[in-house]
Amino acid sequence: MNRKDFLNLSARAAVFFGVAPALTACNNDNTRIETDKAEELLNTSKALGTAVGLKSDPISKVRVGMIGMGNRGSVLIQMFEYLIKNNHAEIVALSDLKENKVQKNNDYLKTIQPKGADLYFGHDTEWKKVADRDDIDLLIIATPWNYHTDMCVYGMEHGKHVACEQPLAMTLEDCWRLIEVGERTKKHCMYMENCCYNAEELWVLNMINEGVFGEVNHAEGAYIHDLRKHMLDASYYENQWRIKHHETKNGNFYTGHGLGPVSFYMDIGRGDNYDYLVSMSSKEQSLSAAAKNNAYPVKQFACGDMNTTLIKTKLGKSIMLQFDTHTGRPYSRLNTVTGTKAVHQGYPSRLYVGHEELQWGHRWLNEEEYNDYKERYDHPLWNKLKNQIDAKAVGHGGMDFVMIYRLIRCLNQGLPLDINLYDSVMWSAITPLSELSVANNSQRTVIPDFTGNSWNIKRSNEVLRNIL
Ligand SMILES: NC(=O)c1ccc[n+]([C@@H]2O[C@H](COP(=O)([O-])OP(=O)(O)OC[C@H]3O[C@@H](n4cnc5c(N)ncnc54)[C@H](O)[C@@H]3O)[C@@H](O)[C@H]2O)c1
Repeated sequence: MNRKDFLNLSARAAVFFGVAPALTACNNDNTRIETDKAEELLNTSKALGTAVGLKSDPISKVRVGMIGMGNRGSVLIQMFEYLIKNNHAEIVALSDLKENKVQKNNDYLKTIQPKGADLYFGHDTEWKKVADRDDIDLLIIATPWNYHTDMCVYGMEHGKHVACEQPLAMTLEDCWRLIEVGERTKKHCMYMENCCYNAEELWVLNMINEGVFGEVNHAEGAYIHDLRKHMLDASYYENQWRIKHHETKNGNFYTGHGLGPVSFYMDIGRGDNYDYLVSMSSKEQSLSAAAKNNAYPVKQFACGDMNTTLIKTKLGKSIMLQFDTHTGRPYSRLNTVTGTKAVHQGYPSRLYVGHEELQWGHRWLNEEEYNDYKERYDHPLWNKLKNQIDAKAVGHGGMDFVMIYRLIRCLNQGLPLDINLYDSVMWSAITPLSELSVANNSQRTVIPDFTGNSWNIKRSNEVLRNIL
C-alpha cells in the first residue's frame, strides 16, 4: 500500500495499528495522523535481525514462573513432570487473578514437586511480582490475549525469557514493541505453538527437509474449531474474554496453529518471508444464532463465520490460512502442503508422491505405501520421547509435552530456541494485517519485514536439530 492508499483508510482501520482510541474519531486531521502512523508501522527497516540464533548462558535447572492458570495453564503445568523429576526445571511461582485456580494447580504441583510454588493472585498486576523476582529464568504466559504483549515486554525488561500462548501481539505497534525489546534485552521470546511439535507436522517437515516434496510451492493451514459452546459458557473462559474479541473485530485472530507449521514447511524467516496478504471474511451468522437463546447479553458479532487470508511469500509461494470458530463441523488445521513431487493433506492425513511418475497420478498412497513413508521419515523426536509422551493423558496427544521439553532443554543447554522472536512476531502480525485488509475490501496489504532482512539467510529449521 502506498501513501495515497493510506489516505483512503477509514479511521476505524487505525485501531489495527494500536493507535489510541482518542485518535480514531473521524476527522481529516486525525486521519492524516493515523496515516502517518500506519506508514511508520509498515516500515520495513525497524528490525535489526540480531535475535537470529540467539543463545543465552546454559541454565542447568530452569526456574519457571507461570502466569495464567486457567484452562491452558492447568494443562501446561502437567507437562513439567518429567522435567522436574529429572532436575531440568523447577516451578517457582504461579499467578492468576483467582486464588482457587492457583491453589488447585499448586495442589497438583505438589504431587510432582513436593514443596509446591509461591502463589500470587487477587489483582491484575500481581503477576508483575513474579516477573520482578530475581530467582526466575522463564515466564510462561497463558492469560487472555490482551495481556500478552505487556507481560512479554515486562518480563524481558526484567531479565526473564518469555514463552507465551498465541497471539503475542494484536496490533502492529505491539509487534514492533516486541521486536525492539527482544533485540535490545537479548532475551528469548517464544510463541508457544504446540502444533509445530505434533507428530504429523514434524513428519511432513522432515519429508520436506529430505527432499520428498521437491520444491514446496503452496500450503494451507487453519484453525477450524467450533468454540460457540465454550465462548457462550459463562464458566469456561475467565470473564468470557474470548467472545468479546468477536464483537468488535473481523479477521483471523488465531493464526499460529495453521501458520506455524506451514511457515516451517516454507522456511519463513530461514530463506523466505511473507510479502503481502489479502484477507476476506464471510458474513457472520452462526455465533449470533447460537447467542440468541443464551444469557450472553450481546447478540451481534463483527467477526465473520469464516475468514480466509491468502499470503504470498517473497519467493512466490502461496499460503491459504483459514479461521472459523463459529460453525459446527469437525476440527481441522488443514495441514496441506504441495510440492513439485508430493502433496500432503490432513484431516485425515493423506500423502501423494510422484508428480514425475505418472502411473501414481490421481490417487493418494495406499495404506502400505503411506506407512512406508511414515516409518522412513518419522521425525526422531517422537520416538525419542515416546515413553514420556505415552505416560501423559493430557496435552493434545503429546505435542504440548514435546514443545515444553524442547523449550526447557534448549535453555538447559544454552541453545537457540526452535521458535524465535521473529517467528513469534510474524505469526502474530497476521492478525492485525488481516483485519486491516478485511476492513478495506480485502485490499492487498504489505507484510512488514520483522526480521531485519535476516530472512535472507538460508538455514535449516531448528526443530530438526537433534538435541539431548
Ligand atoms: N495452544 C493451545 O493449544 C491452547 C489451548 C487453549 C488455550 N490457549 C491459549 O491460552 C491462553 C489462555 O486461554 P485459556 O483457555 O486458558 O483461558 P482461561 O480464561 O481459562 O484462562 C486464562 C487465565 O488467566 C487469568 N488471568 C487473567 N488476567 C490475569 C492477570 N492479569 N494476571 C494473572 N492471571 C490472569 C484468568 O483468571 C484465567 O484463569 C489464550 O491465549 C489461549 O488462546 C492455547
